Amino acid sequence: MAVLDTLGRPIGSLRLSVTDRCNLRCHYCMPEDEYLWLPREDLLTFEEIITVSDIFGELGVDRIRLTGGEPLLRRNLPVLIEGLAAKPWLRDLAMTTNGVLLAEAAADLKRVGLHRLTVSLDTLQPDRFQRLARINALSDVLEGIDASRRAGFTGLKLDTVVTRGDNDDELIDLIEFARSVDAEVRFIEYMDVGGATSWKKDAVVTRKDMLARIADHYGPVTSISEPESSAPAAQFRLPDGATFGIISSTSQPFCRTCDRSRLTADGVLLLCLYAQHGIDLRRPMRAGASRETLTNLIRAGWEGRADRGAEERLIVGDRGTYIPLKKLKKEPHLEMHTRGG
Ligand code: GTP
Ligand code: 5AD
Ligand code: SF4
Repeated sequence: MAVLDTLGRPIGSLRLSVTDRCNLRCHYCMPEDEYLWLPREDLLTFEEIITVSDIFGELGVDRIRLTGGEPLLRRNLPVLIEGLAAKPWLRDLAMTTNGVLLAEAAADLKRVGLHRLTVSLDTLQPDRFQRLARINALSDVLEGIDASRRAGFTGLKLDTVVTRGDNDDELIDLIEFARSVDAEVRFIEYMDVGGATSWKKDAVVTRKDMLARIADHYGPVTSISEPESSAPAAQFRLPDGATFGIISSTSQPFCRTCDRSRLTADGVLLLCLYAQHGIDLRRPMRAGASRETLTNLIRAGWEGRADRGAEERLIVGDRGTYIPLKKLKKEPHLEMHTRGG
């Protein structure tokens, strides 16, 4: 039986953050010099992750996405992927990575059964990459994309967070690059999530702006999204047939159809990207809670879910940063890099 929340939304996908660490420092996610990390002993073991995933599967989840921080920083990640890929209830197993370590990992990821990859790519210009992510790693990411294709991954997606004055002049270049590697690019509006301490309304390039610029270059753009889909990206087609996506979390949020649950690397269940509190599954699990108790905890959590964080932010008039830095410094669970983007 499908488990529904208070707004009638089923639980459909689980985003598993496997580490809060990252090897980049993207300006929209990790702009600070120092971070408070989750204690290592709190990280769920692969066995614990699989136990919890099975319960989600029983409650209706059939899609899992591995996220981070940067998931490839988690030691022995292919072992976890192999375990998850064997689950008969799992229809889709994907991973979002920044691509820096992908070149050496791609063949292994394919071998153990990962279905799909999304690579974050905000710019094609090396000096910009260095400025926006504070590490000079564009060539590693491009090699990673190449390696993933050689390893046999298809349906590659590229995620680009578009920010005004930083990379909003690269929309066309990114569409053309995506085409050249058989990928689909999705342009993401800058969100005022926890961790985005430099967020300003003026820095957001809206879906409307992006579409206007793209149509200016290519001619009329057609919307091809399925109505009522739970996917965050609206899809569009260019006159020449190429497709791209836009994730308009800031200007036109899609909470109404959101079926995503998130588990942090230390086992906290979050019901929304904007949630300020979560449900700790690690403590009861490590205290010996039965599978039934854990199932009830997750089911009750989802059934009580009323979150629609992005829609609520939209009606805040004079919008500044969402979580003050002082609070973020004390509570790493509020950070986007802990909750997995
Ligand atoms: P597929 O459509 O299955 O490929 O996955 P996806 O688009 O859900 O996954 P991905 O990790 O690529 O998500 C892309 C971006 O969408 C994230 O990095 C976030 O910026 C945004 N996003 C993902 N989930 C949510 C969500 O629950 N709410 C909002 N507002 N934005 C989200
Ligand atoms: N706004 C939009 N997307 C963000 N991400 C992280 N921080 C933000 C933000 N402030 C998403 C990006 C990145 C992924 C790992 O998390 O899509 O590619
Ligand atoms: Fe960038 Fe992702 Fe790392 Fe955040 S977690 S700094 S978005 S690569």
